[in-house]
Amino acid sequence: MLQLVPTNLNKRNRASEAQMLRTLNTFAVDLMSIPSVEDLFWYVAQNVVGKLGFVDCVIYQADKGQTELTQAAAWGEKNPYGRNIINPLIIPFGRGITGQVAQSRKPIIVDDLLKDENYIADTEPARSEICVPLICGGRIAGVIDSEHPDIAVFGEAELEILSTVAAMTSAKLELLAETDRSQERYEYLVVAHTQLMQETNNRKALEAKLFEARKMEAIGRLTGRFAHEFNNLLTVIGGNIELLELDTPDAESRATLQGVKTASARGAQLIRDMLAFAQRTRLSPVTVDLNALVSTFCQDCERTLASPVEQSIAADLWPVSVDPVAVDNMLLALALNGFEAMPNGGRIKVATKNIFHTLPEGQHLPSELTPGRYVRLSVSDRGTGITAEHMAQIFDPFFTTKAAGEGTGLGLSMVLGVIRQSGGTVAVRSEIGLGSTFELYFPASPCGTELPSENH
Ligand SMILES: Nc1ncnc2c1ncn2[C@@H]1O[C@H](COP(=O)(O)OP(=O)(O)OP(=O)(O)O)[C@@H](O)[C@H]1O
Ligand SMILES: [Mg+2]
Repeated sequence: MLQLVPTNLNKRNRASEAQMLRTLNTFAVDLMSIPSVEDLFWYVAQNVVGKLGFVDCVIYQADKGQTELTQAAAWGEKNPYGRNIINPLIIPFGRGITGQVAQSRKPIIVDDLLKDENYIADTEPARSEICVPLICGGRIAGVIDSEHPDIAVFGEAELEILSTVAAMTSAKLELLAETDRSQERYEYLVVAHTQLMQETNNRKALEAKLFEARKMEAIGRLTGRFAHEFNNLLTVIGGNIELLELDTPDAESRATLQGVKTASARGAQLIRDMLAFAQRTRLSPVTVDLNALVSTFCQDCERTLASPVEQSIAADLWPVSVDPVAVDNMLLALALNGFEAMPNGGRIKVATKNIFHTLPEGQHLPSELTPGRYVRLSVSDRGTGITAEHMAQIFDPFFTTKAAGEGTGLGLSMVLGVIRQSGGTVAVRSEIGLGSTFELYFPASPCGTELPSENH
């Protein structure tokens, strides 16, 4: 075995040298556009045999651990399968001629393989072999190997050509590795950017929620204080009217007083709604079957409003602990809103359902619900629907889209206050032109809670 170090000695004539330089130039230009390591190895193997006149060429790729070589590309008579290797040969570093080149990182030329104890015989008998390392970023990337059936065909000229090819291949390998690293960095940046966007959106949503909660709390506190003061005044007004009524015999004056009384009663109702929004209603909860309340409400509704109501009642509804009068008021406020949203007429639908809430936050159930059992009471209409802009305000006290003097804008504020005071919440789904559904979620009474018997 002869171990060689490349030299600059060149005894070939000028014409063939110029031809070889041209070939290597073309080779270098072609390498630039090769997109992957696999393509690179196949291109090099093919062109070492084709343009550079070797009879075969096998390229082995080194593993990351720098312990073994795997056949990655082969061209020539030994590989009849085209660009395909069946059962790629695996050679440990140090074993055979290729393994020795990988370990020593130095090229080797063998003049007669039959006399070389390192030769690993292949399917086609060979007598000469030349093998050069591919060194990339200080590591062995692989080796380029070529065999010949005749003795002593490889000399310094072939070593110079193959070493040049190896140097160009290694440079391209480094470029490809850099491209891969850039791609990885780019992908990492894309992921990081997406995460950042997600976090920013989550933070914005949380801030909006917090802002909404603070706004409601501030309005609630203000409303509560104001309502108490105003209620005291109404009590004085009401008491004095009653005294005056006793002292007023003539009918005309009594009618005037009646007008004052009606206005004062409306004022009192306003205050009740405001107090309800501020969650300061005096509730008297009892364990009830919401189905029974709904059924009575729907009958009353059809009778007094002469408007059709569709009922969808769930069987085996869990009992809830609520103030029946408050539920009636909430149903009335929601039903009136539903009818008002259908100026050309239409029926509203009242439904009940047991809900086992297990969904994580952000799903279509209201997020402030802790997981557990709820009874859902919903009121749907096929009316105008609610715009996104209005949706953000409909629960604000005094928000109304009705003409001045036609609505207080306290209906939904009252509903929100009472349902929250009852330990539940309200959710709204609406589509413009298709209608709206308001869903009240009442916490179900603990299991085993008996409904009061009607006979008692
Ligand atoms: N079912 C619904 N369909 C469409 N819009 C609705 C519906 N329910 C409520 N809204 C909107 O929400 C606003 C506030 O409703 P809310 O019940 O609080 O007050 P209001 O109905 O305007 O006044 P009031 O209840 O005193 O008559 C309404 O003016 C309306 O714009
Ligand atoms: Mg209303």
